[in-house]
Parts: sequence; C-alpha cells; structure tokens
Amino acid sequence: MKEPNRKAVSRRTVLRGAAGAAVLGATPALVRAPALAGAAAVKVGVLLPYSGTYARLGSAITNAMKLYVDQNDGKLGGRSIEFVQIDSEAKPPKAPELTTKLISSHKVDILVGPVHSGVAMGMAKIAREEGTITIIPNAGADQITGALCAPNVFRTSFTNSQPGLACGKPMYEDGMRTAVSCFWNYGAGKQSASGFRESFETAGGKVVKEIGVPFPDVEFQSALTEIASIGPDAVYVFFAGGGAVKWVKDYAAAGLMDRIKLYGAGFITEGVTEAQGEAAEGVRSTLHYADTLDNRENVAFRKAYKKAFGNEADVYAVQGYDTSHLIDVGLTAVSGDTGARDDLIAAMAGAKFASPRGPFQLSKAHNPIQNFYLREVRNGVNEVIRIAVEALEDPAKGCKLS
Ligand code: BEZ
Repeated sequence: MKEPNRKAVSRRTVLRGAAGAAVLGATPALVRAPALAGAAAVKVGVLLPYSGTYARLGSAITNAMKLYVDQNDGKLGGRSIEFVQIDSEAKPPKAPELTTKLISSHKVDILVGPVHSGVAMGMAKIAREEGTITIIPNAGADQITGALCAPNVFRTSFTNSQPGLACGKPMYEDGMRTAVSCFWNYGAGKQSASGFRESFETAGGKVVKEIGVPFPDVEFQSALTEIASIGPDAVYVFFAGGGAVKWVKDYAAAGLMDRIKLYGAGFITEGVTEAQGEAAEGVRSTLHYADTLDNRENVAFRKAYKKAFGNEADVYAVQGYDTSHLIDVGLTAVSGDTGARDDLIAAMAGAKFASPRGPFQLSKAHNPIQNFYLREVRNGVNEVIRIAVEALEDPAKGCKLS
C-alpha cells in the first residue's frame, strides 16, 4: 500500500527534497521536477476480456485498477489517468490488431493486458517492437518472462507453471500417489500441467494421464468418464472463470468429489465459489493469493472492493490493483514525466510494496517473486491452509535481462 503521507508532499517540499538530493548525489529519479502541471492525462490502454468465459476476470482486474486510482484522488505520480478499454474477447488472433489500435490510434502511454496467454503472445510481440511500457495483469505465458522477456514488459501476476510447481508436494503430503491432470489445451493449461507433473513426480507421485480439452469448451463429459475409469487418487486441473464454474459442478454431479480428490491451480475456485455453491467445498488449490490472508493491505483492500463493487475481491482484482500501484511507483519516480522512459522502467523494475497478496517485488525477468499458498474452500471462502512454496521465483529460462 502507498507509503504514508506521500500524497501530502507539497510542491515546495519536492523542490527542497530535490535540492537536498542533488547535494547528496541521489539518483536522477529523485531530483526530477514536480509533476507536469496542467499536463494531459496519462493514457493507459487496457486490453482485457469483457465477454466470453474470461469476462469476469477482465472486469475484476479493471475494477481494481480503477479503485486504486480513485483511492489516490484520480492521479498517479501527479498525473490524471485515462483508461482506454478494448475487449480482447480472449481471442489470440485478434491481439496484434487490437494492440496496434491502442498504440497507434489511441496513442496510449502504457499498455495493460491481457488475461489469456495466447493473446499475451501477440500483444507482447508488438509491445516489444514498439517499446511501449506494458504490464500484464494476468496472462501467465512462461515465455514472456523467459526467452521473450523485454525491459519494457512487466507482469503483476504469475507464470503458468508456478501454481502447478507449488501443488505437487502438498498433494503428495495429503497421501495422493497417482494423479490425472485435465486442462484447457493451450499454452496456459499445458504449462500449468507441466509444472504440476514436475513437482508431483519429484515428490514421489505419478501422473498417469494428461487430458487436454479445447479452449474455451465446457463440454467435460468425456474427460470425466475417462477420469472415472482410470480411478487415480487425485485430479489436478487448470480451468478459470466460466469454465471453472462448470468443471466443479460437473465433477460433483458425476459423483467424483468423494472418490477422487480434486486439486488445481487456484483459478479453479477463484472468484467463482458463489456460482459453484456447495460443489466447491473442500476443493484444494495453490495460488499466490487467498481470501483470508491476514495482512493489513488485504483486509483494507477487500473491504474497499466490496464497498465499491458489491462483490468479493479475488486474485484477478489483486493483480489489477497492483498493476495501478506499479504504474504509480513508476510515474511517481519521474514526477509524471512519461518521456523519462528509462527512469520509469528502472523504478518499476525496482518496485517494492505491500500488496494484498503479501510483499510485492519483481525478479530480474519482471515477474513477481511471491509466496504460493495451499488453500481450501470452506463455506465459500478460499482459506489459507499454509504456504506451499515461499518466495517462488519464475525460472525465467532464456531471459537475458540483467
Ligand atoms: C492464461 O491464459 O494465462 C490464464 C487465463 C486464466 C487464468 C490463468 C491464466
């Protein structure tokens, strides 16, 4: 959360601080002039899904980004913020055209998006070519903070393999020895399942079958029949949004909940427990967030989010909130001067703040280093059981940023 009193810093204090900093040989970011008076709003281009199976994820991210700005009197780094939103529809083929529209037609200063890893691949390619500062508030494509990492691309969420890497050991400790994984068959699902296989088999378990379902299909009957006939100890899944609601209900309706324990990347119960109802009770998952995290920022954030939007916050909202916070850190360091690109990027790369998820800081590849929690749904709430992996860092394979 924002450092106390920072907003109260007056123009004179900044000038005095600048002079003092110059004497002390402080970094250029600290000696900048105060925010550009009368400057136009900083344009933030947002490419998120507002329709389809991931629509609720896009809305939660957007709501929380705006909440953070509202809580700061509509300004970040002294500049007003204007959001330009486009519906990605979670359709990868549309990503290049929509990203270009935000950069070239709307002339945005900063890009935010997307939710879907396939969309992220198209969006990040253009952001890299154009050099536009980009923050990914969800899509976990491992490559983006791996071989395709770039100085101007940041992520406030996770890499797809991380929740899977965190899940194998706790499942084994729960007594599970064989598992089937089932996932939407695109980058995110495959990377999630591969992280899971690595951690579960390292712990001593065996993944006996991997079942991919085309995205965004929610026709799960044949997968459920196959799982029932294999009869593993447990199932690990990657589904989110509308698909997660349907999977959990179908799994329960098929009579599998009591026979084959259901686990997953935390998206399986994130933001959807109300829609899943009784069926979600007892589902265990791993994620970098849980509703019941007992820190000051989380308690305040959940209360403010509920008051503003009438529903409970979730991990997507946290990622949106932290996206605005990261922009705030960058813009504040350059006193709102988006032209000071290198200093803005350096400040964002070095950002450290208290997030509702716990301490927030980025790896050299610009992906959060964060705790992953084992959670269980109890009375409709994703409760923390324990930390599954502490300060898990993205492996960043092939990333050359130093
Ligand atoms: C992804 O496509 O990267 C993704 C989508 C929803 C939840 C998590 C990851």
